[in-house]
Amino acid sequence: MIAPLIKNNTRLFHENLEIKLKDVLFNENLSPLAYYNLLLNFKTAYLSLENSLKKNSFIEEMLFKRSKIHMLDDDLFCLEKEIGLKTHQISTLEYNTTSTANALGAMYVMEGATLGGQIIVKFLSRHPWMQSIKCYNFFKSYGKETGNMWKEFIEFIEDYVEMNPEDSEKVVEGAIMAFKHIDKTLTV
Ligand code: HEM
Repeated sequence: MIAPLIKNNTRLFHENLEIKLKDVLFNENLSPLAYYNLLLNFKTAYLSLENSLKKNSFIEEMLFKRSKIHMLDDDLFCLEKEIGLKTHQISTLEYNTTSTANALGAMYVMEGATLGGQIIVKFLSRHPWMQSIKCYNFFKSYGKETGNMWKEFIEFIEDYVEMNPEDSEKVVEGAIMAFKHIDKTLTV
C-alpha cells in the first residue's frame, strides 16, 4: 500500500508544517492581515505546484475538481475588502513535476492538507472579525465531502501504484518534494 508508505516518509515534514501553522492560525490574536499574508503564501505555493502538475493531462483532469486556487482567490478577495486592499500580486516560483508518479505524490500532499482543514475552520470562526465575513473557503475545502474526496483519491493512487509498482519510489519522492516546496514558501 502506497498511502502508509508516503505517510511514514513525510511524517516529519507534516509535523513541522503543523507546528508552524498552528503558531499563526491558532493564535487568539490572529489579525486579518496576518491571515491574509499566510493565504498569499499558500497561493504562491499552490499556484506553482498546480501550474506544473497541469502540464500532465492526466493530472490536469484530476485538478478540474480538485484545484484549490479558486478557493484561495475567494478568500483573498474577501479579505482584501475587509482590510481595504485593492488586489494582490503573486511572485512566480519554479516547480518541476518530473513524471505522473511524481505529480501524484504532490497531489497526495495537497489533498491530504484538506483533512486538517475542519479543525482549522473551527479556530478561525472564533475570531470576531471572521464571524461576518467567513473567508475560510480554502481551509473548508470540500466541506462535508472532504472524507469522500480523500477516499476517492486514495483509491486512485493505490490503483495506480498497483498497476505501476516500479513507480512507488517516485510517488514518495513527489510527496517529499511538494512538502519541501510548501514549507519553503510558507517560511518568509
Ligand atoms: C494547522 C495545520 C494542520 C493541522 C492541524 C493538520 C492536521 C491534520 C489531520 C488531523 C490529519 C488527519 C490525520 C489522519 O487521519 O491520520 C492530517 C492529514 C494530512 N495532512 Fe495535515 N494538518 C495541518 C497542515 C497541513 C499542511 C499545511 C499540509 C500540506 C500542505 C498537510 C498535509 C497533510 C497530509 C498529506 C495528510 C494525509 C495523511 C498523512 O499522510 O499524514 N497538513 N492533517
